[in-house]
Amino acid sequence: MRTPSVTRKPTPKHHPKKAAVFAQQRNPPPPATKLSISDESLSSRGFTLHRTIDNLDLNHLNTVFVAVRFPRRDTGKIRVALEHTDALLWVEYEKTKRPVAFARATGDGVFNAIIWDVVVDPSFQGIGLGKAVMERLITALLEKGITNIVSYSEPRVLGFYRPMGFVADPDGIRGMVYSRKQKRKE
Ligand SMILES: CC(C)(COP(=O)(O)OP(=O)(O)OC[C@H]1O[C@@H](n2cnc3c(N)ncnc32)[C@H](O)[C@@H]1OP(=O)(O)O)[C@@H](O)C(=O)NCCC(=O)NCCS
Repeated sequence: MRTPSVTRKPTPKHHPKKAAVFAQQRNPPPPATKLSISDESLSSRGFTLHRTIDNLDLNHLNTVFVAVRFPRRDTGKIRVALEHTDALLWVEYEKTKRPVAFARATGDGVFNAIIWDVVVDPSFQGIGLGKAVMERLITALLEKGITNIVSYSEPRVLGFYRPMGFVADPDGIRGMVYSRKQKRKE
């Protein structure tokens, strides 16, 4: 299936238990030629990069989400979310044909994008796959002229995003997330 352009604004509801920290990409990383790991190098290690959801088994993707303690979501809804996604990257492990790394961005297609669902299968973490998908996702967005790139990051992952050019609370701007729990307290 192709990944059509997005027109719908996303709501940050799908990780309700996570503290959301607003981080904005202000200093674009070097262009694609300066990738930390090339497509060829990934390929030689048995990984294939994909930029569409063709051949992506969403149940397997859901398994990766659950493995990193994201809530299990309805696969049909994940499909809808991915169909409304501007840009995505996933890495397939050739041996198993399963997704092991994933990241996606939604947005308005010209000015703004928000990055979601950055995950690497725990068995494959720490070998550069998270950085590989993020670098390519950011490059894809910058190539479209999109420069306001935002990510909601758990505090413990801020150090992963910072070297890629993300800054927390830029110029004092704070991210706010609609909270039904908070609303009930009022
Ligand atoms: C966060 C995550 C995507 C990182 O993926 P990864 O493939 O393990 O990371 P990489 O191997 O590409 O690491 C790239 C760099 O980031 C650093 N890094 C990775 N995770 C980090 C963390 N949690 N905090 C600080 N630095 C981190 C690495 O040390 C590495 O540094 P280097 O380039 O100087 O060597 C992965 O750990 C994951 O899926 N975590 C669970 C889900 C999650 O929290 N996603 C983010 C949602 S906000």
